[in-house]
Amino acid sequence: MRVRIEPSYFEMSNVAAKLIAAQLRRKPDSVLGLATGSTPLGIYRELARMHKDEGLDFAGVRTFNLDEYYGLAPDHPQSYRYFMDENLLRHVNIDPKNVHIPGGIVKDIEASCSEYEASIREAGGIDIQLLGIGRDGHIAFNEPGSSLGSRTRLKTLAQETISDNARFFKSLDEVPRFAITMGVGTILESRHIVLLASGVEKSDAVRLAVEGPVTSEITASVLQLHPKVTVFLDEAAAEKLKRRDYYKYVEAMRQKVGQAEV
Ligand code: GLP
Repeated sequence: MRVRIEPSYFEMSNVAAKLIAAQLRRKPDSVLGLATGSTPLGIYRELARMHKDEGLDFAGVRTFNLDEYYGLAPDHPQSYRYFMDENLLRHVNIDPKNVHIPGGIVKDIEASCSEYEASIREAGGIDIQLLGIGRDGHIAFNEPGSSLGSRTRLKTLAQETISDNARFFKSLDEVPRFAITMGVGTILESRHIVLLASGVEKSDAVRLAVEGPVTSEITASVLQLHPKVTVFLDEAAAEKLKRRDYYKYVEAMRQKVGQAEV
């Protein structure tokens, strides 16, 4: 696990966007795993800018989103489909047929979850998976207690997540109680996982995910078992890490041996 502590949210977002841009230049038909929430907004803004100013090409890119609220139609302003359209997809030249987001309104939940898994496999798996982290240490909507081998499925949201996400809705009552989410096992199959966290309110979850024991109580902690994870943090999110200085030292040393690029 590589921990990169950047001075601010802005810098963290730009460095992470550069990493994705490098992947797209290396492999124009890359498969990206995308996340929603406030945290990746800076990356999406920078990717859209790179598309506009530098011609970063999304024509061959395929995307899979982590999750979607169960019960929300794609045109609902709080649906993750709507979020992705607004914040990234309509600003770049991605082919709509290459965009995959779990359906929020489906007749047969199990069938649509297995189809989602099958389409990830058919695409050849995910090259880079972006992740945020919930205050309870969840990734995607894999709430504490989720099986570490779980696959895409319907998940009941924890109270903390419902109240955290209430800020996007008119009232607490409107926040969906369920989501369709990639499982922890699904996420772990990605070739490279990039987790981002910003702000002091995420610092406990970050500490437990990076330096705590691997446990389904903090589903992000399972990333410690993955061979290629990059954790991008701003100073505030890194505040509670025991080995914070060591991670910074490692990055300085990587520069010396020409290993600063991811
Ligand atoms: C939701 C999403 C997660 C996201 C988390 C944190 O629960 N399902 O994917 O990481 O919120 O969101 P934010 O980045 O807004 O703090």
